[in-house]
Amino acid sequence: MGALKDMPATQSAPPAPVDIAHPATYAGGVPHEEFDRRRREEPVGWVPEPALWRHSSAGRIQQRGAGFWAATTHEAVVEVSRQPEVFSSALRGAFLHDPRTPADLEFMRQLLVNMDAPQHVRIRRLVTSVFTPRAVRSLADTVTRHARDLIEAVRRRDTFDAVTDLAAELPLLVLADLLGMPRGDRHLLYRWSNNLVGFDDPEYGGGDVEVYRQTFAEAFQYALAVAVRRRAAPRDDLISLLATAEVDGRRLTDREFCQFWLLLVVAGNETTRHLISGALHLLLHDQALRRRWLGAPLSTATAVDEFLRVVTPIMQFRRTATRDATLAGTKIAEGDKVVMFYVSANRDAAVFADPHQVDLERAPNPHLSFGMGPHFCLGAHLARMEMAALLDAVVPHLPRLATTGPVVRLESNFVNGIKSMPVGWT
Ligand code: HEM
Repeated sequence: MGALKDMPATQSAPPAPVDIAHPATYAGGVPHEEFDRRRREEPVGWVPEPALWRHSSAGRIQQRGAGFWAATTHEAVVEVSRQPEVFSSALRGAFLHDPRTPADLEFMRQLLVNMDAPQHVRIRRLVTSVFTPRAVRSLADTVTRHARDLIEAVRRRDTFDAVTDLAAELPLLVLADLLGMPRGDRHLLYRWSNNLVGFDDPEYGGGDVEVYRQTFAEAFQYALAVAVRRRAAPRDDLISLLATAEVDGRRLTDREFCQFWLLLVVAGNETTRHLISGALHLLLHDQALRRRWLGAPLSTATAVDEFLRVVTPIMQFRRTATRDATLAGTKIAEGDKVVMFYVSANRDAAVFADPHQVDLERAPNPHLSFGMGPHFCLGAHLARMEMAALLDAVVPHLPRLATTGPVVRLESNFVNGIKSMPVGWT
């Protein structure tokens, strides 16, 4: 990583017109005007992929994907999500960037998000047997306590960073409990997840394949030690259940356990962080929104779903066509890459009135931020719970909170992220 720090930004500036595939585009904010145009003119439109720089021990190389179909309307994203047998997660994985080698693809396929039925059904059944709504509800008191403690800690300081000191900390504390690790180790999760999800950002993964591989190796080693400890001496926690649970008379293998553990590290970390920081960003920059919240009573649950819609922490997931098909009237060929832009579907005027308006009382709110279909987010309840706890803890103090410096956004075409948001008490 050291040598990379001296390099200029990993990716070149995005070319015009707005390139929705380029990670650098999103450093300037989500290009909503371009998504508006796409929904209007080409709900399923072809997007050529930009050449992106990658670094490895073999040197610096450019990688360019073959291009993809961007599904941008609510209807098209739902259509893809509801047909997993036509739009596969396993064929080439669920991430926009293609796996580099057949070995990489095989490795990725051990991750729940990159599986299709029947393997997906088996592993998901095992995981849901321990990751039940009841088990998640049992975390509620701890989540509330963590949220309050975090607010108390930042209240003792004149200035702080709303992302690193607040938004990032809550999911890290919750995950440390969930993953059976000492809370003091939680910043390992922060670094791992930044390296993997922030792969394209020069400050985090830096497009460095070695950093990516090392992060996997380090996290797996840690997870394996957790599995061994919990199998030897199970505790009354989720991770012990996961380490020992059986489906059809078979436990998760060590590798399956590690893959799922790491999936939770990544899925439960950045996503919730960006939801919280995105919501705080809106509240700090929109006086009317702040006044509305502090005015007549609101349902926090309803507001949380509106923040999920407008922030859309995970902007897209990918599928691959298993056969020739038609999607919203567009012909898709077998093997084509199809990307579901939740971030666009969530602002589709055909489904949401005044879609660019934040309406904290919006109901119903059929946003797609947690996906849809067989891969629907397993952590949806937990993420909503964390966001609600943090909002309830922070809102009474909002009138005294203001930004004190520029907001720095993540260079990523996958998550809608903010890296830093300096704030202070007035
Ligand atoms: C605001 C926060 C979150 C957002 C926006 C989010 C979003 C998503 C989305 C869009 C998917 C669908 C993937 C696909 O269709 O390929 C997904 C899957 C998943 N999420 Fe979340 N997630 C969040 C929080 C969490 C948390 C807190 C956890 C757990 C601690 C979690 C665990 C998972 C898992 C395990 C899957 C894979 C499910 C499967 O493939 O069957 N997520 N999430």
